[in-house]
Amino acid sequence: MTSDSRFVPLVLKTDTEPNMNRYPFSSACKFLSLVIVFILFNFTSYAQEISKEPAAIKAGEGVFNANCKTCHRVKIKLVGPPLANVYDRVPSIDWIKKFVHNSAGVIASGDEYAVKIYNEYNKTQMTAFSSLKDEDIMNVLAYIKAETEKPDVPTPPTGDPTKVTSADSGNQGLPSTYLNVILIGMLLILILLFVILGLMVGALKRFLDQKPLTDEEKEVVESPITIGTITRSSGFIFLVIFLVTALGFKAVINGLYGIGVQQGYAPKQPIAFSHKIHAGQYEIDCKYCHVGVMKGKSATIPSVNICMNCHNQIRQGAVTGEAEIALVVAAWDSKKPIEWVRVHNLPDLAYFNHAQHVNVGGVECQTCHGPIETMDVVRQYSLLTMGWCIDCHRNTNVNNKGNAYYNKLVEYHNKKGTGPMKVEDIGGLECAKCHY
Ligand code: HEC
Ligand code: HEC
Ligand code: HEC
Ligand code: HEC
Ligand code: HEC
Ligand code: HEC
Repeated sequence: MTSDSRFVPLVLKTDTEPNMNRYPFSSACKFLSLVIVFILFNFTSYAQEISKEPAAIKAGEGVFNANCKTCHRVKIKLVGPPLANVYDRVPSIDWIKKFVHNSAGVIASGDEYAVKIYNEYNKTQMTAFSSLKDEDIMNVLAYIKAETEKPDVPTPPTGDPTKVTSADSGNQGLPSTYLNVILIGMLLILILLFVILGLMVGALKRFLDQKPLTDEEKEVVESPITIGTITRSSGFIFLVIFLVTALGFKAVINGLYGIGVQQGYAPKQPIAFSHKIHAGQYEIDCKYCHVGVMKGKSATIPSVNICMNCHNQIRQGAVTGEAEIALVVAAWDSKKPIEWVRVHNLPDLAYFNHAQHVNVGGVECQTCHGPIETMDVVRQYSLLTMGWCIDCHRNTNVNNKGNAYYNKLVEYHNKKGTGPMKVEDIGGLECAKCHY
């Protein structure tokens, strides 16, 4: 025990004092009280130690994401300071607890550090989390410490292009796939023909070499094969005409299928708002801005006041400097809405509901909109044709988690033994479900 070794010299020292024997009881008392103070001190410092337990880190991550993530990240500055190593720069861990419980109180008490950081952050009031337990805060610190010590990893690759989602399946029109297969097949046959012809020419040459030839015959056999003779041959002309017609045909069919389809449409927006920065780099939840997705037909485009929750503070962009954010602030000051250009737009005859898909169906935004979090400018990723909707309804299982009505329906369906219940089985192909 370390405590023993630490206290032995102390006790020895008092031992040597002459009055030691006269007050054996009081020196034992002194010793005991020192031990108690030592234990208490150790105990509290243990309680203040930031845990490395995976359970604490995990719990802390939950608390952090639910309460702090809107304003803080571990390594980057958002509305509040980056929290990496915060436990080293603040006065004490108790200070953190007090500050999180009621930052306004700590600042009002004149605490030097609190006032300094409050001014540094343009007097932004941090939310008071009076209901968070000390244990929650310690878990958050455990999470922050674990994240601080993680080595910086390069940003993850932007989606896996080889992964084909059900939304992708409609992206290449069927005719073009068929034509590609036919073209590749013909190319292979042509190569094969060339090889066979080459072999035959070789065999003939060897055969003729053994025969005495007249001058006339020699001229034919030894006539050089030049580019001119090739391009003038009828075989070559046929080949060229065939290829040009096939490619033209393919282009026309693709064009016909593409009428009214705006896949890839990516209009320039009035403000260079980037999903790559907001949803990608800063991991702001889609629902923080598109507030309608869980409850309504429309996902909704955020109004300027949502932007100003952050841009009240953040006036400098790493890419565009002050210029673009100044437009956001100007829109706020002038109370004029920003006129975003609409990217996705179904014709009025069709009805599409976000809540039905995202909330009830559990479909990810990316399944339909692609890797938005990697786009500087939003582009229409899917076809948005009727075939695209129908394809997915034929192939997608109905999500039955956590809804008593659906659970019963799915259970009943599965008893029929016709495989998992698809959207098609709940009426997803009925004209009237999608057409007014
Ligand atoms: C509404 C935004 C907001 C939320 C939510 C928020 N903070 Fe803060 N936090 C701030 C701001 C701004 C500061 C800078 C000090 C100030 O202005 O009061 C700050 C400062 C801090 C500091 C001091 C940092 C330093 O560098 O000294 C700690 C620690 C802290 N916050 C922890 C938390 C924790 C833990 C949570 C979640 C439970 C949280 N904050 C949630 C905005 C927020
Ligand atoms: C900080 C706010 C913010 C966040 C977070 C955000 N968006 Fe957006 N989103 C916007 C704004 C503003 C627009 C309109 C401007 C534009 O098209 O770029 C928009 C446009 C879109 C559009 C095109 C709308 C149209 O006109 O058809 C889609 C789709 C979209 N967002 C999906 C997402 C998804 C998916 C996420 C999460 C990965 C996300 N957004 C996160 C603010 C946000
Ligand atoms: C949750 C916080 C948050 C919200 C909400 C938010 N932004 Fe941002 N925005 C940021 C951060 C952080 C940056 C990056 C600053 C930097 O580049 O260092 C940023 C940067 C920008 C930039 C400059 C990009 C660059 O790097 O040059 C523009 C423009 C912008 N935001 C527009 C908007 C618009 C428009 C909205 C509302 C639809 C919005 N922001 C909502 C946090 C937010
Ligand atoms: C099943 C496919 C699908 C999913 C999943 C989906 N969307 Fe959409 N989204 C669409 C279609 C289709 C439109 C065009 C709607 C229209 O024009 O009426 C659209 C339009 C939008 C728009 C433009 C404004 C509007 O509501 O018309 C935004 C913003 C948007 N989606 C964001 C999101 C976000 C954020 C998510 C995830 C939380 C999401 N979407 C999930 C298919 C989908
Ligand atoms: C990525 C797959 C996917 C795509 C693409 C898709 N849907 Fe759906 N859709 C679903 C799922 C899953 C459900 C089932 C939701 C539920 O559990 O009620 C659904 C349900 C529906 C329903 C309700 C059906 C019913 O009987 O309750 C309608 C209406 C609908 N979708 C319309 C559309 C339209 C219109 C489009 C094309 C613009 C579309 N969907 C594209 C997956 C998709
Ligand atoms: C899952 C949803 C869904 C179902 C079910 C559905 N449609 Fe559609 N339909 C659409 C969408 C979305 C469009 C618009 C596509 C576009 O703009 O390319 C559309 C377009 C159409 C059009 C073309 C209109 C035009 O202007 O080109 C017709 C006609 C049509 N649907 C008829 C039907 C009939 C008939 C049925 C029933 C057998 C049906 N639809 C079922 C979603 C659906």
